[in-house]
Amino acid sequence: MTPAQGEATPRPVCGLDTWMPVPVRILDMKDENFNTFTIRLRIEDEAARSAYRWAPGQFNMLYVPGVGEAAISISSDPDKPTELEHTIRVVGSVTRAIKRTGTGGMIGLRGPFGTSWPIEGIKGKNVVMVAGGIGLAPIRPMVYWLIRHREHCKRVILLYGCRSPEDRVFASELEEWELKSGLDILVTVDNATGNWTGPVGVVTQLLKRVRVDAEHTTVMVCGPKVLNRAASWQFLQLHVPPEQVYVSLERNMNCGFGQCGHCQYGAKFVCRDGPVFRFADIAHIFAKEEI
Ligand SMILES: Cc1cc2nc3c(=O)[nH]c(=O)nc-3n(C[C@H](O)[C@H](O)[C@H](O)COP(=O)(O)OP(=O)(O)OC[C@H]3O[C@@H](n4cnc5c(N)ncnc54)[C@H](O)[C@@H]3O)c2cc1C
Ligand code: FES
Repeated sequence: MTPAQGEATPRPVCGLDTWMPVPVRILDMKDENFNTFTIRLRIEDEAARSAYRWAPGQFNMLYVPGVGEAAISISSDPDKPTELEHTIRVVGSVTRAIKRTGTGGMIGLRGPFGTSWPIEGIKGKNVVMVAGGIGLAPIRPMVYWLIRHREHCKRVILLYGCRSPEDRVFASELEEWELKSGLDILVTVDNATGNWTGPVGVVTQLLKRVRVDAEHTTVMVCGPKVLNRAASWQFLQLHVPPEQVYVSLERNMNCGFGQCGHCQYGAKFVCRDGPVFRFADIAHIFAKEEI
């Protein structure tokens, strides 16, 4: 267990070695918004499928033959291990090729990789999750887990920010989680288009509406760099201890398991020591704007 983690994280089991993708079939593909979609995958090999274990916050390397690989977080319910979902924003060649492959098509998968959100460490605490844009994807498994184990924690709050209402992912689920699950959910947008009547402004402004006992609160943050930075600092100013602030980072990936150095972040590798870091472990790197 690395110091950055809340607990032990399952190691990769797919493929005979972690360089080797296993074939997975796209069972379903659903549009989340104009540029983002969610795929449901099944590992074709039965032995690999039943051996596959993952924890909320981890990611897989998805591979399209002839095109390349991209690191994509697992976005599904951890209690449904055979329904492996990934939520993908189309930004470049690999993500475009996955979209083009379509339902029924085959791609490759290596993983799972990286550290996970803390689970044991949040027992009896308040939990505040802060997500921006597609950053809700790696947080979604944690939301499912918290809904299923609601008694594990005190208050559970999700703060979610997007450019516009049309940029939201899991829009219908957000309403369902709010109505049925006992989570406090606040969504804000930068630009209030259409019929939007909710909060307008950056997600960190929502923090002003939240009152929690800082000493007994765990924070999980995932979004663009600027959000990760602003939200983390703001929670520290609210006296949440840095050991209780977790942030998921993104970096260019290649191998996914600490061999190539592509994802180096100070002395750490985001693929192996992250992507979920305890703020206390990266504060010194975070302080340097240029890294
Ligand atoms: C741990 C982790 C988890 C992730 N989870 C998700 C997820 O759940 N969903 C998701 O959609 N994405 C996720 N990502 C991001 C995803 O891996 C990247 O967007 C990936 O690069 C997409 O691959 P691509 O080939 O489609 O795009 P790329 O061709 O890699 O392009 C990606 C973006 O980077 C820009 N870019 C590429 N090369 C350069 C360059 N040399 N200089 C400047 N800009 C450049 C492109 O213009 C484009 O905007 C995650 C990344 C990490 C590290
Ligand atoms: S991606 Fe190769 S070391 Fe992290």
